[in-house]
Amino acid sequence: MDISNRTVLIVGGTSGIGLGLARRFAAAGSTVIVGGRDTSRVDDLESVRIDVTDAASVLTARDHVLAAHPDLDVVVTMSGVLLQEDLRDPAHFGAAETTIAVNLLGTIRVIDAFTPHLVTRGAGDIITVTSGIGFLPFPLMPSYGASKAGVHAYTEALRAQLSGAGVTVTELIPPAVATAGQEKVNPAALPLDGFLDEVVGLLTQTPTPNEIVVQAAQRLRWAERDGTYAGLLAARSQSLAALPGR
Ligand SMILES: NC(=O)c1ccc[n+]([C@@H]2O[C@H](COP(=O)([O-])OP(=O)(O)OC[C@H]3O[C@@H](n4cnc5c(N)ncnc54)[C@H](OP(=O)(O)O)[C@@H]3O)[C@@H](O)[C@H]2O)c1
Repeated sequence: MDISNRTVLIVGGTSGIGLGLARRFAAAGSTVIVGGRDTSRVDDLESVRIDVTDAASVLTARDHVLAAHPDLDVVVTMSGVLLQEDLRDPAHFGAAETTIAVNLLGTIRVIDAFTPHLVTRGAGDIITVTSGIGFLPFPLMPSYGASKAGVHAYTEALRAQLSGAGVTVTELIPPAVATAGQEKVNPAALPLDGFLDEVVGLLTQTPTPNEIVVQAAQRLRWAERDGTYAGLLAARSQSLAALPGR
């Protein structure tokens, strides 16, 4: 994928991985718009206010972006929340609802908003964002893993449905990255810059791989195939000791 001469919208680009990726596209020469609920954090890139849980907000943002940038040809669905849940306490349900609303339904809503434009153009890229946790659960974040496994399955179906339409569908599968508070709790989280170096290296290959899986994400992505799933899941289950009363 060329990243130097594109017009890119990164929904969920107002912080963390999305903002970092936006700056990589911009530094390479592309026109970049970042979206999120809080655009005040970004002053070096064009931004648009969007709440992916609100259908009207998504359509308003879509109309605004396409009016200003009719040549938009890359859409990245980066919006996500990472919430812990204690499944022995039914009060977790609110976190489950928020997680599915943002990570899964929000992704679908943004893709729906821009697919007609990209298909009419007959050229473009959709980049979805899942997680290693979508392939190897992290038991502290049950609905998060479910949402990302859902986005993975959806991405595969989207790629099949858009085949022949000129629209490429790519899935970014990050491992733990030192953003969104991970830097405070997970010493193994990858520094953002190094992670983005690897992502850009993979993204710019020709043809673009269907999945962008940096080295540190490989063991999660392929645990089931490699026969390491049960052992890794047991090790990751030790994180449950962080829950109250365990
Ligand atoms: N960090 C990791 O270890 C890791 C690992 C694997 C996958 N990922 C995935 O990578 C993506 C980015 O994560 P990150 O670590 O960069 O987290 P982050 O810094 O918290 O960024 C999350 C982004 O999502 C946006 N967002 C949240 N709720 C939204 C809503 N209702 N409507 C629109 N945008 C919303 C936020 O913008 P506003 O607050 O401005 O709305 C922000 O731009 C997520 O999908 C996450 O699941 C992260």
